[in-house]
Amino acid sequence: MAVQKEDQSTQTLGLHDELILMLLNEENGYFHQVPGWDLNCAVVGAVLADLSLRSRIDTDMASLFLLDATETGDPALDPMLKEIASEPVQRNAQYWIERLAPLAESVIDLTLDHLVGLGILEHHDGDYWTVAHTHRHAGLSDGSEDDTAGQFIKARISRAIFTNEIPDPRDVIIVCLVNTCDVFRFIFHLDDEAEERIEFICKMDLIGRSLAAAVSQNLASPALQRPPLTRKIPTVSLSKLLLNPHTRDGNLNALFGNLAEEYGPVFQVRPPFSKPMIFLAGLDTNRWVHKRGRMYLRARDYFSDFEKVYGASGVLPALDGADHFRLRKSLSPAYSRARLVAQLDQLYHHARKFMADWTVGDAYPATHMCRRMINAQISPLSVTVDTQDIIDDLIKYKERALSTHIVRVLPKFLLNTPAMKRRAKGVDVLLKRVQGVHTPAQRAGCPRNLADDLLSLNASDPQVVPESNLRFALSAALIASVYLGDAFSFALYAMASQPALSERIRSEADALFENGDPDGEDFSLSAIDVTHRFLMECLRMYPIVPMSMRNVMNSCVVEGYEISVGTRVYIAQAASHYMEDVFPDPFTFDIDRYQSPRNEHRSPGYAPFGLGTHTCLGSRWLELQLAVNVLMVSHYFTLEVSTGNDSLKFSPIPSMKPSKKLKFLVAEKRRELVV
Ligand code: HEM
Repeated sequence: MAVQKEDQSTQTLGLHDELILMLLNEENGYFHQVPGWDLNCAVVGAVLADLSLRSRIDTDMASLFLLDATETGDPALDPMLKEIASEPVQRNAQYWIERLAPLAESVIDLTLDHLVGLGILEHHDGDYWTVAHTHRHAGLSDGSEDDTAGQFIKARISRAIFTNEIPDPRDVIIVCLVNTCDVFRFIFHLDDEAEERIEFICKMDLIGRSLAAAVSQNLASPALQRPPLTRKIPTVSLSKLLLNPHTRDGNLNALFGNLAEEYGPVFQVRPPFSKPMIFLAGLDTNRWVHKRGRMYLRARDYFSDFEKVYGASGVLPALDGADHFRLRKSLSPAYSRARLVAQLDQLYHHARKFMADWTVGDAYPATHMCRRMINAQISPLSVTVDTQDIIDDLIKYKERALSTHIVRVLPKFLLNTPAMKRRAKGVDVLLKRVQGVHTPAQRAGCPRNLADDLLSLNASDPQVVPESNLRFALSAALIASVYLGDAFSFALYAMASQPALSERIRSEADALFENGDPDGEDFSLSAIDVTHRFLMECLRMYPIVPMSMRNVMNSCVVEGYEISVGTRVYIAQAASHYMEDVFPDPFTFDIDRYQSPRNEHRSPGYAPFGLGTHTCLGSRWLELQLAVNVLMVSHYFTLEVSTGNDSLKFSPIPSMKPSKKLKFLVAEKRRELVV
């Protein structure tokens, strides 16, 4: 099939491309649920069929023959062609489908990249794909010009199924492949006649028949789907855990990295009197969580207790599958970099106003100061109200709730002490304040913010964002000040403790702010090259979220370890930040890791924002906000670490932050702040 890109060049789609487009589910941004083995068989079937259409192989009932071993130039096809060419014994198609099935995952990845490259699909953070509606498909047989490639293929297949036209050989194969995946019922409304026609079409093609045989054979012997031997999950010795230096300095990420290096990618910790905790840590488990997690892991279970504390149910971090995708898509603009860029003048104003109170010679507690400084910006920018008077209460309440209801290091009744009940009232104060200023008249002409989006979603789609979820959703927006504030305090520490690096950041800051305030485009990667790499290294060495929790909803084998349904897994996504094979010399602060040819961040081993479908939605926003704050501090002040030469200590529960002892001394004010 020929599709045309904006540059009018004509590209050819392979059968594997067409299959992936057929299977893409626009409702959840991923494929219709296809069991892993069936999907792999179908993808290999598509590749074999493509090789046969390109006269590289041929098949009859008994055998698959090599006709021509010349490479096709398609990276999805050639590795399989090579395997077939190097096999001395003649085999049949079913044999090849089973044998090549393990290569299918890389074909899927290549195919998705190819379709994104052609502008047919769009890729979104969290590994979602949607059909690009800006891409027009040309060459449609019905002359329509504004169908997407996905709709075009679906229209072709629907003609094959619902009319008596003799289907094109390519369509026969696609029908067969999709039928193997058993997802036609999700794509079309099928009556008996259509089902019979699908069965009939599937018998027209040999590759298709072999494929169906391979899958049904496999259903009869599920052993093929899994490695024959799964390993016993190793248990971390409690004495080793307690004696690890990072248990003492609180660097949980380095601790998990050490444990993964010693025990392997899946290990368990058995705390006395509680359930064993199964950890996944390291590059390979990160890759698995990122790519395959959505099929096996669910966020709902671990989060439901916590959201109930706020009277909520089904908030964004607690959703899975299509519901999650839908809400995430609706909220994406609210957390985008573009939203922040549109309010940069406000961001500068709030940052300067906060710093105006700093006095040379005074020392300020790092965590408290940085959280408040970030809150002084995020609050008016995302919900239009000032919350400096209640943010401490909101944070203390949320941190206690995390410790009692998620991390579970404290008993639940500790959330109901009189002091906590008083702090909980801050959430209602926030809701009233936000509702008070978000009447249509007051918002007329104002730039749209997160509160506008949440309130309008509540009005337009009250099932997706019910009123009962607003207390959580609005306070979560402010609580983001905790994560971002803590990342900011680590960055200020890294700057204050490395004067030479700090000077390089300062030159970028001075160049940007010397002649008036920069606009969004001024923060190009070349203008803030050092600052950008510096912040990437801060997020590697000091990732704020050391682990994500999920419950296993479909039993799975991860790196050879079987994990059963219902198990809670702790994904130590940033353990790899401290593993020598992913980041050589991991305890050295080195901003050159992110330059070519090293590019050490270009793998799922770099995961400060989590993995998979729930990857931080605010990452683009926060990268800019963090950069602006670091640059502005360095433009106006010189800070020093006031706690002497002690090495940095961490306070890791419920999330990573510097220990309370860390303070910054304002050593110099470089210029006047005009507020
Ligand atoms: C340096 C600061 C931050 C870090 C390290 C961070 C990290 C993370 C991580 C690891 C997750 C995934 C949690 C999981 O998988 O269970 C997450 C989710 C999320 N983050 Fe961030 N975050 C930061 C700041 C922010 C900010 C400032 C915002 C808002 C402007 C934000 C918005 C979100 C949202 C909405 C989600 C939920 C996404 C979903 O469930 O689909 N984050 N963040």
